[in-house]
Amino acid sequence: MKKRAVKVLDTTLRDGEQTPGVALAPEQKLEVARALDDLGVDIIEAGAAITSEGERRAIRLISDAGLKAEVCSFARALRSDVDAALGCGVDGVHLVVPTSDIHLKYKLKKNREEVKRMALDAARYALDQGLKVEFSAEDATRTDPAFLRELFSAAVELGVQRVCVCDTVGVLTPERARELFSDLAKAIKVPIAAHCHDDFGMATANTLAAVQAGALEVHVAVNGLGERGGNAALEEVALALTQLYGVETRIKLNKLYPISKLVERLTRMPVPPTKSVVGENAFAHEAGIHTHGVLAYPPTYEPISPELVGHHRKLVFGKHAGSHAVESELHRMGLQPTREQVREIFEQVKKLGDRGKLVTDTELRAIVDAIMGRTLKEVLKLEELTVVSGNKATPTASARVKFGDKEVVESGLGVGPVDAAMNAISKVIGEMSNIRLQGYHVDAISGGTDAVVDVVVNLTDGKRIVTARGTSGDIIMASVQAMINGTNRLLWDRKLGGA
Ligand code: KIV
Ligand code: ZN
Repeated sequence: MKKRAVKVLDTTLRDGEQTPGVALAPEQKLEVARALDDLGVDIIEAGAAITSEGERRAIRLISDAGLKAEVCSFARALRSDVDAALGCGVDGVHLVVPTSDIHLKYKLKKNREEVKRMALDAARYALDQGLKVEFSAEDATRTDPAFLRELFSAAVELGVQRVCVCDTVGVLTPERARELFSDLAKAIKVPIAAHCHDDFGMATANTLAAVQAGALEVHVAVNGLGERGGNAALEEVALALTQLYGVETRIKLNKLYPISKLVERLTRMPVPPTKSVVGENAFAHEAGIHTHGVLAYPPTYEPISPELVGHHRKLVFGKHAGSHAVESELHRMGLQPTREQVREIFEQVKKLGDRGKLVTDTELRAIVDAIMGRTLKEVLKLEELTVVSGNKATPTASARVKFGDKEVVESGLGVGPVDAAMNAISKVIGEMSNIRLQGYHVDAISGGTDAVVDVVVNLTDGKRIVTARGTSGDIIMASVQAMINGTNRLLWDRKLGGA
């Protein structure tokens, strides 16, 4: 039996970019669009052409990039918005008209007849210009269902290719979604899309319920970006559709984690570690029973394999660590510890964990080295760090670092003194190795302006990722120390031939 298939419209570059604090440059939008195309998205909502000159440049770049995906621009039901989209060379418009009485009364100040006339005029105009039209009802889930059906039917009669139900303020439930979408599917003869928001944490569930009830297209955004609580997350919907509902999409699942990282980096919107599918903890295990189970048979605690979504498994060491995990990590590091050494290492890990700390890779390896008699030589040593900052100066840092008998001096600018120091130190490290900073996290351990801060960094040499910590009353020193510790660890492990 042929499986059902649904189309995916990604709105990371439109609704996702409406996330407060997110703004992408045209080249960055193009980079995301290419990645979305590569991922297998069917329709890319590249932005809203009416917004600005920069936005139009971005949409034009994306339209001209020769992507396989259909490229559309958001447009209000106004000819001027359609013209702006047309000028960007898009394949179509996501034509949006508010339909709920609340929106009509307080936003548009128009009655239903006026809104219908305006919406149909814009749709006809766009179709006449040769554009594909996805006709969207904003706040559809708080709209009189009879009016929604009437409007959609009239738009379909004009020739629009698709219609879309927007759960603009995320008030839908899976039960209501099933009812609404199955009623609409009986009356509307073009594909119906679901555009769900996550105000109540239900966007994914509602999207899936809509598909069960006949929706043939889903609107999603990478990392669940979007207005307020965000849109249905692309990674969640794509994975659940294929793995739990047996519905096909064109999404290449193993590209989900890489695109999440790309969007996180470009939007500077950190993905919470506990975020399903793409969060750093999505496949991390600390508790002893869990790690034991996963090591014995991964499906015990992993409903899907991390590789399926391009992610990786991580065993984390802390107070819940189990001895099996510690032993397996030691073997992974290429070591052959005795039973006694495993027991001692395990106890030290527990002790550190009991102090409320995550045991970073550098700390674990320091414990291992001490107990197994391996000495970590400081390969890299900070000799001097000078940072200048203030309301009249661009934050600047210079670092003098010793690397064996070589001395390297580098300087860096930054948005603040920490950034400047990290840039200077990254340059030094980059000069002698291929080690790069991948993640940075800071916590204040105590309160007040004299707080002790704990910085944890993720560093990679392309093959491995290590976590390293720096702790100090000075955030700059804590950050730089974490970088040095992690770099030393990677360099020294390489020398020893361990993992
Ligand atoms: O959530 C929403 O209603 C929207 C529309 C404007 C398409 O994003
Ligand atoms: Zn939206």
